[in-house]
Amino acid sequence: MKIYLETMGCQMNRLDSELVEGLLRAAGHEILLARRDADVVLYNTCSVRDRAEEKVHSRLGAEAHHADPDKRVFIGVLGCMAQRLGKKLLARHKNLSFVCSPGRLRDLPALLESALAGHRPLALDPGRSQSSSSSSPDGLVTSVTGSLPHPETPDEWDSLDLSRPTDLVPGNSQSYVRITRGCDKFCTYCIVPFVRGPEVSRDPGRIADEVRRLVDAGRSEITLLGQTVNSYLWSTTGRTVRFSDLLSLLSPTPGLRRLRFVTSHPLNFGDDVLTAMRDAPNVCRYIHCPAQSGSDAILKRMNRQYTRAQYDDLIDRAYAILPDVALAGDFIVGFPGETDADHAASVDLIRRTRYKNSFIFKYSPRAGTLAAKRLADDIPEPVKKRRNADLLAAQGQVGLVHHRSYVGRRVEVLVSGLAARPDRQQASPAPGQVQLLGRTRGDHIVVFNAPESLIGTYADVSIVHATDLTLFGTFP
Ligand code: SAH
Ligand code: SF4
Ligand code: F3S
Repeated sequence: MKIYLETMGCQMNRLDSELVEGLLRAAGHEILLARRDADVVLYNTCSVRDRAEEKVHSRLGAEAHHADPDKRVFIGVLGCMAQRLGKKLLARHKNLSFVCSPGRLRDLPALLESALAGHRPLALDPGRSQSSSSSSPDGLVTSVTGSLPHPETPDEWDSLDLSRPTDLVPGNSQSYVRITRGCDKFCTYCIVPFVRGPEVSRDPGRIADEVRRLVDAGRSEITLLGQTVNSYLWSTTGRTVRFSDLLSLLSPTPGLRRLRFVTSHPLNFGDDVLTAMRDAPNVCRYIHCPAQSGSDAILKRMNRQYTRAQYDDLIDRAYAILPDVALAGDFIVGFPGETDADHAASVDLIRRTRYKNSFIFKYSPRAGTLAAKRLADDIPEPVKKRRNADLLAAQGQVGLVHHRSYVGRRVEVLVSGLAARPDRQQASPAPGQVQLLGRTRGDHIVVFNAPESLIGTYADVSIVHATDLTLFGTFP
């Protein structure tokens, strides 16, 4: 079959999609780069905000509307929406062939076979699906047509990651490696603990093996993934491995030029992580550590489990131990009951922290979460919009100061590809050159002109100009 897989949502989904493509290839299918000739279209979906879900519903609606009567296209929904909505998705979209939640992706080839045979299978994770969802009464896996066994042992939960092909093709320079799955933090606004299940740390030996194999195949930049990576904890008799230990264990991997991680949680972010970063030169000087709000009242209602003072202290320690660190944040505006003073505290936090960049979201109630059950979504849309613009403006100012501090410096970038759109801030490329995009160790975006052959390699670029989000440079 010719399969097209579209990925939405966070890096978790991007990793899952990469692993799923490996499984489908191994099962003899072909993965297409464009939707056009596909026999099977898969959507790997996100539930974190309503807009993310609406986009998928409208895509599925459009698939039905434009269906070619002469060619049956099989459509599958994977990922967090699959887990959250389950059977409701099959009921709403009659053209849907099957639904598969994140912990069941190992079964995707079998589900696809079943769908091709005319069934409409549904594979959901056991556990925490909300009462409003469609999981079976025992909260376990259901299958509309004959059930596949659900994962029971830690090894079975790990099977998708373990399915990573051993004969990796060289070429790509960057890869993700999962270190934890799920989340136990239960921030009151967040759907992730429901759709991704309990937090489980992976065996450090397996993580190290996976990193080694990827590096041997030429992937010199590895990003460790988890919803809250610094909660990583592995214990066996007589041995405990914390996140900082894991960094120290992985960083000496021969050939590993860059070791990154996302996302960090401000709770329990000890100096041990900061000093492990300082002592390992290949660990990137970048911490994405969302604050969500600068106000204690809101942090409490969000169940973030830290105070503003503790967050400020973390930032001070980070700059003290890693003076060249680049910080990134997330903020939610318009959380229930957010006053002008709460909002002003978030603006102040952005100024104080001097983030490289921040991701700013308008609060979106998610059914089943504590905030959606207990707190009215009482901030009017125009106020959410204005607060969103305020935070963006504050971030724009500190982002510009941050990026300008790089003008006149030389930075090493990993060249990821062509700049998507020619950037007017940059002179047009000379003959034999193209406009390239790369990332620094601090995750800054760098645009510069150079030969296309640099893609996938490291280059030293002299920074000549900066905006609030981008550095512009010359090579060599
Ligand atoms: N695990 C990560 C974040 C996962 S979700 C962490 O804890 O940092 C990514 C971001 O989406 C969150 O940081 C938050 O800013 C935003 N988000 C999550 N739920 C949301 C909701 N209901 N409405 C608006 N934004 C939300
Ligand atoms: Fe969601 Fe909070 Fe877990 Fe992040 S830490 S995934 S925001 S519940
Ligand atoms: Fe979205 Fe699921 Fe990631 S809800 S943010 S794709 S874990």
